[in-house]
Amino acid sequence: MANLGCGMASEQEIVRVAGLRKRYRADGPDAVAGIDFSVREGEIFGLLGPNGAGKTTTIGVITTRVRPTAGSATVDGHDVAGEPVAVKRLIAVVPQMSNLDRSLTAIENLTFHAAYFGAGRRERRERAMELLERFGLGERAKEKVATYSGGMAQRLMIARALMHQPRVLFLDEPTTGLDPQSRHFLWETMLDLRTRGTTLVLTTHDMAEADRLCDRIAVVDHGRIIALDTPRGLRGLLPAEAGIDLLLEGAPPAAARFEALSGAEKVEVSEAGEGRWRVRVYGTGAGLASEALATTSADGNGLIELRRLEGSLEDVFMHLTGREMR
Ligand SMILES: Nc1ncnc2c1ncn2[C@@H]1O[C@H](COP(=O)(O)OP(=O)(O)OP(=O)(O)O)[C@@H](O)[C@H]1O
Ligand SMILES: [Mg+2]
Repeated sequence: MANLGCGMASEQEIVRVAGLRKRYRADGPDAVAGIDFSVREGEIFGLLGPNGAGKTTTIGVITTRVRPTAGSATVDGHDVAGEPVAVKRLIAVVPQMSNLDRSLTAIENLTFHAAYFGAGRRERRERAMELLERFGLGERAKEKVATYSGGMAQRLMIARALMHQPRVLFLDEPTTGLDPQSRHFLWETMLDLRTRGTTLVLTTHDMAEADRLCDRIAVVDHGRIIALDTPRGLRGLLPAEAGIDLLLEGAPPAAARFEALSGAEKVEVSEAGEGRWRVRVYGTGAGLASEALATTSADGNGLIELRRLEGSLEDVFMHLTGREMR
């Protein structure tokens, strides 16, 4: 299949999950209770959900580590249960819990992994060194992983996942526990991989991360997908929070003037100090901002600032999944 090379997702589906259910014990609850979604080739797809929602289990099934109770998953048309070897060649996984061999050096962890995929000795050493350098671990390549910090081990797991150049990369909470530098570096790495045509599926609790990286997000709770949309589409689920925020100077603005704008649902006017006024117009009308600007200038008020109001992804998440801890 053509590599798009432009960072845009195609319409081609590369991962497809249908009617997936997983129950770890026959008499236990469903960890995954009927999930359907597909991931388009070249996109960054996020699974977002509270602790115990079933994210790791879902990734476990797609990556052939967990056997489903019912339903199916395919990667590029290969069934994960029927053709696990074909699937493993196409994917790589960065698991939530480290599964590095701590008694081996960093470079050994990488080259042993590549040997499993049949790469030649010289090729795997070169690729390992290149990745270790890229992930800022070149100088510690020959140290045992037992001496690595948590963040370094996390970067090493991602380097290892890239050893056999996967078509789909699964990252289960890749940035949890990383410092801001490492987190930004990883974000750049993920966006760069997408530009090169790699499909990414990641789980996260970090809303800024989901917002910034994901083309589409499935919100998972109690083993079910309760919403699936772009970050922007998800933010739009809280219409009460959407609107515009104006900071004005001059005479006190009249709320009624803004209430008359098309699409305005509610208006709040408050003093902002230093002879300034804050006007919040809630609503989703497309022309809300331009109409508000026209009103402002017609009324002789000066405009200091205009912002769009949007519900944050975190608000949406709490709205959808509630406040109770799992
Ligand atoms: N190996 C297992 N044996 C039994 N139950 C399990 C096993 N793995 C997960 N579970 C259960 O399945 C449910 C879903 O767990 P899962 O790890 O998929 O959630 P998660 O969304 O990844 O959560 P987190 O955000 O905490 O990583 C939980 O109730 C969990 O206790
Ligand atoms: Mg998990």
